[in-house]
Amino acid sequence: MEKVYTIKEVREQVKAWKKEGLSVGLVPTMGYLHEGHASLIQKAVEQNDKVVVSVFLNPTQFGPTEDLEAYPRDFEADCKLCESIGAALVFHPEPSEMYASDFCTWVDMDVLSKTLCGKSRPIHFRGVCTVVSKLFNIVTPDRAYFGQKDAQQLAIIRRMVRDLNMDIEIVGCPIVREEDGLAKSSRNTYLNEEERKAALILSKSVALGKKMVADGETSATVVKEAMIKKIESEPMAKIDYVEAVDGLSMQPVEEIKAPALVAMAVYIGKTRLIDNFIVEE
Ligand code: PAF
Repeated sequence: MEKVYTIKEVREQVKAWKKEGLSVGLVPTMGYLHEGHASLIQKAVEQNDKVVVSVFLNPTQFGPTEDLEAYPRDFEADCKLCESIGAALVFHPEPSEMYASDFCTWVDMDVLSKTLCGKSRPIHFRGVCTVVSKLFNIVTPDRAYFGQKDAQQLAIIRRMVRDLNMDIEIVGCPIVREEDGLAKSSRNTYLNEEERKAALILSKSVALGKKMVADGETSATVVKEAMIKKIESEPMAKIDYVEAVDGLSMQPVEEIKAPALVAMAVYIGKTRLIDNFIVEE
């Protein structure tokens, strides 16, 4: 497996693969990889001749008071994981390689990015859309892989690809959970022992909402109220939002019917965690 640090090197390698008629999958990540990322890389390896994993802690998607500095990093462990699954190349640029000092061109989105996480993280999705567009332009993959845990991000990237006619198939992959139900996240490492136990309230609330919908409840108010009550039973939890939205537009709905997304962001101590379930046909 190759490790490269410059845009030029990625371009040369991908061009050589394409000359040979090989397909290319891209798994964009911010590093500190866990089993959730591993499942994306695995899927990409199954579906493509060559897989590129980008490891780039993108500064432009973090607000000024967010956890960019504290975000965990372990590039050597990331590379080992990528290699063990069969990735062909890891792209690990410096921020200065991705953003010139006078960088001023952004990819932004209305509507979908204004709800859920976009409400409390107003510049987040502009940073995500911009860096993902740049990665798409650099790697020119046939397919790109994103996790369902970041369901709003996945919906936004699908919309961006459609709206801007990017010739890339977006593959969404299911949430990977710890044995006790907590959704895998690099941010789980911020939790101390007590917080780690308290964090289970997210997946418990998701399980409750999911069961209510499976049992036929369609009122968003009824489902959200039950989920909120559950979360509030945990004293360490502070709700940012619990919302039911249309699965494509990310706008709040009163009736939960497919395609829909029921999503939450909850602080456990200082750590903001997200979880969700999707309602499909
Ligand atoms: O989901 C993430 O890790 C990031 O938002 C992404 C897609 C790699 C862009 O920086």
